[in-house]
Amino acid sequence: MSKPVVYLTRLIPDAGLDLLVKAGFSLRINQKARGLSAEELTQAAAGADAVISQLADPINSAVLEAWAPKCKVVATCAVGYDNIDVKAAAKLGMTVTNTPDVLTHATADLTWALLLATARRLGEGERLVRAGAWRGWEMMQLMGADVFGQSLGLIGAGRIGQAVAKRASGFEMTVRYVARSEKPEMTAIGATRVDLDTLLTTSDFVSLHTALTPDTHHLLNAKAFDKLKPGAILINTARGSVVDQVEMIAALRDGRLAAAGLDVFDGEPAIPKELMEMDNVVMLPHIGSATVRTRTRMAEIAANNVIAVLTDKPPQTPVSVG
Ligand code: DGY
Repeated sequence: MSKPVVYLTRLIPDAGLDLLVKAGFSLRINQKARGLSAEELTQAAAGADAVISQLADPINSAVLEAWAPKCKVVATCAVGYDNIDVKAAAKLGMTVTNTPDVLTHATADLTWALLLATARRLGEGERLVRAGAWRGWEMMQLMGADVFGQSLGLIGAGRIGQAVAKRASGFEMTVRYVARSEKPEMTAIGATRVDLDTLLTTSDFVSLHTALTPDTHHLLNAKAFDKLKPGAILINTARGSVVDQVEMIAALRDGRLAAAGLDVFDGEPAIPKELMEMDNVVMLPHIGSATVRTRTRMAEIAANNVIAVLTDKPPQTPVSVG
């Protein structure tokens, strides 16, 4: 009998590959140094019993229909699965799994790295030093925004939002959050649940920790930017499309938004030229979960989910179809 085939849309850490090989599966891995289009994915994973995917793969209903009925499981190496049509997968009898929990702290740490880098203008400072343009200590140079004692507004208070909130206590910040329901974990650390308008009008830092859904698509639009507290800074480690990027650029230009720290972009990896030219924007290439330990654990979870489904066992972290 031939071995079940697992198609990987990008390379994953060895720990995940080893589990799949030990389980007796044959691996096919995308060899291109980039993600694939929907058409390419359709072809590349044809005939596979399982797919291990990444967060930018466009796994729409047409792709899933082409993979069915052979493909039993799509295991994404991410907590977010907005790129997968999970309803279509369910209709086709395919399981979709993700990798929650293990990336919470890496992503919360990165959020803080970005918040501090943006407030204290680290990108500008680094560019200045590397350009050999630093002439020595200057009283008026690169003055940024305070973080200690300021107010932090979190949009979304799931695992990552809560982990970000906990880290704020060391900075003695006032923490407010927007969520569908009151979170006891947030109440316990003194964070207050508010409505979006209150959060926008009172926060020195607004940080996004919500999944991308039809409800949160362009949640931060022109109207939201109009309400921001003067000097507000936006941090986005969630998904680029939660923000209307064109309106964000306008707000950064006219000062409604003082600065932005962005790990994610609408239409990434393309970055609008305007953002590239703005010194008050710190940009990272979607590396929220990129620590060796976290990415290794994500790969192991994805591999174990595939092994479970292909051996008729319940996967560890199935995505629920709402
Ligand atoms: C995810 O897993 O959804 C995150 O965006 C990774 O950084």
